[in-house]
Amino acid sequence: MNLKNITNLFIMFCVCGFIHVQFSQLRAAEAEQSGTVRSSVRGGDCVKCHESIVLTLQRMGKAHRQLCLDCHQGHPPADMEIVPSCSRCHREGPHFALPGCLKCHTDPHQPLEISFTRDITAPCLACHKQQSEQLLANPSIHSKLACSACHTFHGQIQPCQNCHLPHSDTMGRESCHGCHKAHMPLVVAYGENIVSEDCGSCHKDVYEIMAATWSKHRKVPCVQCHAGRHAMIPRCQDCHGEPHPLEIWAKFKECADCHGVAHELWATKASKNKFAEKN
Ligand code: HEC
Ligand code: HEC
Ligand code: HEC
Ligand code: HEC
Ligand code: HEC
Ligand code: HEC
Ligand code: HEC
Ligand code: HEC
Ligand code: HEC
Ligand code: HEC
Ligand code: HEC
Ligand code: HEC
Repeated sequence: MNLKNITNLFIMFCVCGFIHVQFSQLRAAEAEQSGTVRSSVRGGDCVKCHESIVLTLQRMGKAHRQLCLDCHQGHPPADMEIVPSCSRCHREGPHFALPGCLKCHTDPHQPLEISFTRDITAPCLACHKQQSEQLLANPSIHSKLACSACHTFHGQIQPCQNCHLPHSDTMGRESCHGCHKAHMPLVVAYGENIVSEDCGSCHKDVYEIMAATWSKHRKVPCVQCHAGRHAMIPRCQDCHGEPHPLEIWAKFKECADCHGVAHELWATKASKNKFAEKN
């Protein structure tokens, strides 16, 4: 191949390329005007008319961030059936046997932005067995709700206060998790960080008695005695061992005979007299 041939080839390449570009721009403009395009539209053309979808796919497309033409082969009016079925590419496994992929994956251009547009429970269980087992093993009204009643889109965690009021005005709106778990709400268990005011939301009487008592138990938080689980009752000996000579049990039956109830030590008549004697 001599220099002349190469030059000719070069000129041909430029001219044809120029014409081609002009031609396709013309066609695209025509198509835009008439509102239709030929099935010969190319990958790069899509953005001219479907800009927002291209942007969505770029930002949120995840594994679908591929060529438009991988899914849409052709274009109206020449080709009318250009929306692919999911099963063209997703087939094996129980998840792909679910009906109505687009009911959850509402936009294939952002496939992981998943909304639950109706009551859904069964399809969740394929991936979240543990949560449903917890709901079933600990029956409550929550166990009767659909998963999607609380999780309205995938990954959403709703605060309890969207549906419930706190037990009292003094209780923090965020404090619920200290005592409850969403999937077993009637199993009330807590750590050492629960303040006595929160127990006082329901046990106002006990709370007030303890606030007024003069004994050292006043300073002991409710959860230090009623530890771990709601409604457990501690034994005095758990903390105090056997503080007195064992001979006293010949005459007395329990600590309360002299000390009164834990919330109000020395409140029995005998013990009050004893207390008065001492002071
Ligand atoms: C010149 C403007 C233009 C270009 C370029 C264009 N489209 Fe379209 N597209 C339209 C219009 C207008 C419609 C609506 C046509 C109709 O409903 O008949 C449409 C409809 C569609 C539909 C919906 C079809 C259906 O059955 O609902 C898909 C999918 C689509 N385009 C994909 C693409 C892809 C992929 C590209 C790039 C390869 C592209 N389009 C390029 C204008 C364009
Ligand atoms: C993974 C496959 C896939 C890819 C990749 C994909 N699409 Fe789609 N597209 C679909 C499906 C499925 C629908 C039908 C959605 C529905 O029925 O709600 C659709 C619908 C459309 C529609 C018509 C509905 C609408 O939302 O306006 C247009 C236009 C469109 N796609 C354009 C594009 C463009 C442009 C690209 C590339 C940037 C693209 N698509 C990439 C699967 C895909
Ligand atoms: C042209 C082939 C093709 C079509 C059609 C298609 N997908 Fe995909 N999709 C893929 C590929 C490839 C991946 C990445 C590998 C995988 O997870 O299988 C993917 C991944 C996904 C993911 C996970 C995304 C991620 O980033 O992990 C979801 C969700 C998904 N697809 C849903 C759908 C739904 C819903 C439809 C129908 C509306 C659909 N796909 C149609 C090819 C396709
Ligand atoms: C009940 C709602 C729901 C339905 C119906 C549904 N999906 Fe999903 N899909 C999900 C959720 C939730 C995920 C998990 C997303 C994540 O990993 O963040 C998922 C994940 C995926 C994934 C990626 C993980 C994987 O297993 O590969 C693909 C692909 C997928 N779905 C495709 C489909 C297809 C295809 C259909 C229809 C046959 C379908 N989905 C029906 C909710 C649904
Ligand atoms: C295809 C499998 C799949 C399906 C179906 C699925 N999920 Fe998920 N889900 C996942 C994956 C994967 C994650 C992210 C992994 C993780 O953080 O544990 C996730 C995360 C979550 C989270 C957030 C977890 C966190 O720690 O923040 C919630 C809530 C959730 N899914 C609820 C649901 C509900 C409700 C359904 C049914 C309506 C459902 N999922 C269906 C796979 C799935
Ligand atoms: C989307 C709404 C919703 C959310 C979020 C929600 N719940 Fe419920 N919950 C209900 C409904 C509905 C009931 C039954 C009627 C009622 O007691 O108000 C209920 C009942 C309960 C019950 C009594 C159960 C029974 O069987 O008697 C407890 C305890 C409870 N919820 C605690 C919580 C806690 C704690 C949270 C946060 C971790 C929470 N809930 C989040 C809707 C919700
Ligand atoms: C009453 C509302 C409610 C219902 C019904 C509900 N959840 Fe949850 N879910 C929550 C809340 C609130 C959390 C946050 C953790 C907590 O408060 O214990 C959560 C957490 C999760 C998580 C994150 C991991 C974890 O265990 O903390 C997954 C996954 C999940 N739920 C799936 C499900 C599935 C699947 C169902 C149905 C079988 C379901 N949820 C039913 C309210 C609910
Ligand atoms: C200090 C522990 C504690 C905290 C914190 C707590 N709860 Fe409770 N909650 C309980 C106990 C104990 C019960 C059960 C009472 C019974 O047996 O009737 C209960 C019962 C409930 C019930 C059932 C109906 C009712 O009112 O008796 C709901 C709903 C509830 N809690 C919601 C909440 C919400 C919402 C929060 C956060 C704002 C919260 N709880 C914070 C201990 C607590
Ligand atoms: C939502 C209201 C509520 C809250 C908050 C609450 N309780 Fe209760 N508690 C009750 C009710 C109602 C009963 C009686 C029914 C029962 O035994 O479950 C009870 C019973 C008890 C009992 C007695 C069990 C028995 O055998 O007589 C103890 C002890 C107790 N609660 C301690 C606490 C402590 C400590 C806290 C704070 C960590 C607390 N409670 C928070 C409502 C509540
Ligand atoms: C969780 C541990 C715990 C339990 C259970 C417990 N106590 Fe105490 N008790 C304490 C602490 C802490 C003090 C204060 C010690 C100090 O400050 O020297 C105390 C102090 C006392 C005192 C001295 C009171 C004073 O004001 O001088 C008496 C008496 C007493 N306890 C009796 C009892 C009796 C009776 C019971 C059973 C009904 C009981 N305690 C259960 C932790 C406990
Ligand atoms: C016969 C009545 C009586 C009985 C029964 C009794 N106590 Fe006492 N206890 C007293 C008296 C009186 C004191 C005050 C003694 C003193 O200050 O020297 C006292 C003091 C205490 C103290 C405080 C000790 C100190 O060093 O300050 C504790 C703790 C205590 N008792 C726990 C118990 C426990 C736990 C029981 C049950 C196992 C019990 N008591 C049974 C009469 C009794
Ligand atoms: C020093 C340990 C101790 C502390 C602190 C304590 N309790 Fe108790 N509580 C007991 C014991 C022991 C009983 C069993 C009755 C008795 O022997 O006094 C009891 C009984 C109860 C009961 C059931 C009987 C009744 O009196 O209604 C409730 C409810 C209760 N406690 C709530 C509370 C609350 C709420 C707090 C905090 C404000 C609290 N307790 C602090 C030890 C304690």
